[in-house]
Amino acid sequence: MRLFLDTADVEEIRKGVELGVISGVTTNPSLVARVKRPLKEVVREICALVPGPVSAEVLARDTAGMVEEARQLAAIAPNVVVKIPITEEGLRAVKALAGEGIATNVTLVFSPNQALLAALAGATYVSPFVGRLDDVGADGMEVVRTTVSIFRQYGFSTQVIAASIRHPMHVVAAAQAGAPVATLPYGVLMQMLRHPLTDVGIERFLADWAKVGIAPGS
Ligand code: E4P
Repeated sequence: MRLFLDTADVEEIRKGVELGVISGVTTNPSLVARVKRPLKEVVREICALVPGPVSAEVLARDTAGMVEEARQLAAIAPNVVVKIPITEEGLRAVKALAGEGIATNVTLVFSPNQALLAALAGATYVSPFVGRLDDVGADGMEVVRTTVSIFRQYGFSTQVIAASIRHPMHVVAAAQAGAPVATLPYGVLMQMLRHPLTDVGIERFLADWAKVGIAPGS
């Protein structure tokens, strides 16, 4: 399983990559708006930091506009993946882009049927939004589980990215579901890492060692 960071904040990405656990990044227009920088400039900088896939989303809503924006984004760096929303226009764009060898991440996926259509159109990734489904009283992770099992059954190469991850147990559930990727906010990555008993354990080891009065490293 791979973990991506869901952010456009370059500092967060730098810190995540330094930890050795982050192999890709996903962004969306809201995340890029938050850093108040031009999209292409941010994507270029992120692509230089991260060796793996970096998803950047189109803003156009018609097929021709999406394809044109996708070409421009893909020209920024070889690891750009173009995020396309799951609409009729989006599916046509995904098909056209697959024909041009441009990687896509079909976004705003809320059902296994949408994911199936994205895979059939030639998407490289599909992103079911777990947290947003949970928010409306549905079982977001069920969409990940069902989609992973459908893709396995038919040997689709399209990879599921468990997205809209809100807390560490979402990551555990995505891993149990067999999702090849989960994309998470930096805060959730830190929540995965930290445990109060780890902190207590470190303190206790250091205190016990200090009692003997032998210098560390000797
Ligand atoms: C996925 O690629 C999206 O950027 C993201 O996961 C959306 O998450 P949110 O529902 O927390 O905005």
